[in-house]
Amino acid sequence: MALPAQEQKHAFVHAQFERIAAKYDLTNDVISFGMHRFWKERAVQILLKNAQNTTNPQNRSYLDVCCGTGDLSLRIASKLKDQDSVTGLDFSGNMLSCAASRLDKAGDVISCKVSFVEGDAQNLPFQQDQFDGAIISFGLRNLTDLPRGIAEMTRVVKPGGLVLNLDLGEAQGPIFAPLFALHFDVIVPMIGAIVQNDRSAYTYLPESRTTYPKPAGISKIFEESGLVDVKHIALAGGSVALHTGRVP
Ligand SMILES: C[S@@+](CC[C@H](N)C(=O)[O-])C[C@H]1O[C@@H](n2cnc3c(N)ncnc32)[C@H](O)[C@@H]1O
Repeated sequence: MALPAQEQKHAFVHAQFERIAAKYDLTNDVISFGMHRFWKERAVQILLKNAQNTTNPQNRSYLDVCCGTGDLSLRIASKLKDQDSVTGLDFSGNMLSCAASRLDKAGDVISCKVSFVEGDAQNLPFQQDQFDGAIISFGLRNLTDLPRGIAEMTRVVKPGGLVLNLDLGEAQGPIFAPLFALHFDVIVPMIGAIVQNDRSAYTYLPESRTTYPKPAGISKIFEESGLVDVKHIALAGGSVALHTGRVP
């Protein structure tokens, strides 16, 4: 399958997530062997630890960009207090419907305010310096304009707050790297075909990896957006990359 041309990518990606929303969580667990939970926990720890050190511990507010079914938003929310808030943003109405039902089912585990907003990550409908931190997980790769996505997150985070990106990295090692490529390029589309009955969506996933920058390229995008103290943490043998940068 050919990757969509740049001008068609937005509509292509939107249609794809509208289609796979209902079984997205199940497929995510299967293709990552449930490991996405640990990577997200690590990212949330870093996001919240920073706020304890640098900002007013009252009324903390966080943004989860490309929130999908709200998994990460609710992980953040479960660690916050009543007066805090989490906003999840996504452009897929179907993914957001799944997020809303997850929130309904979460019950007493969540005491802070959680809201889900439909919008474009490249044109965030929020004010400058509105949030204490912003995170995007497995979303950046899907944007038509990646630097614009990071620049928007940087704009809406207060000085001292963190911007985080969790996404694919570069698998390392003579055995692990080819194994990872086999899993991602061959097994993942097969899992997509079985679980989702949608091989094309999960063929796009490995193909999107070919145009997504390597970790050093993502660090550069962070720096060019004006973020400082930019760090790359390699997870899962390098196959997953967590980037952090601070708004000066
Ligand atoms: C792979 S899912 C990741 C969902 C979630 N963050 C997670 O880690 O499980 C990518 C999400 O990005 C959303 N997305 C892609 N491009 C977007 C855009 N331009 N604006 C807002 N959301 C977008 C999709 O609708 C989808 O829900």
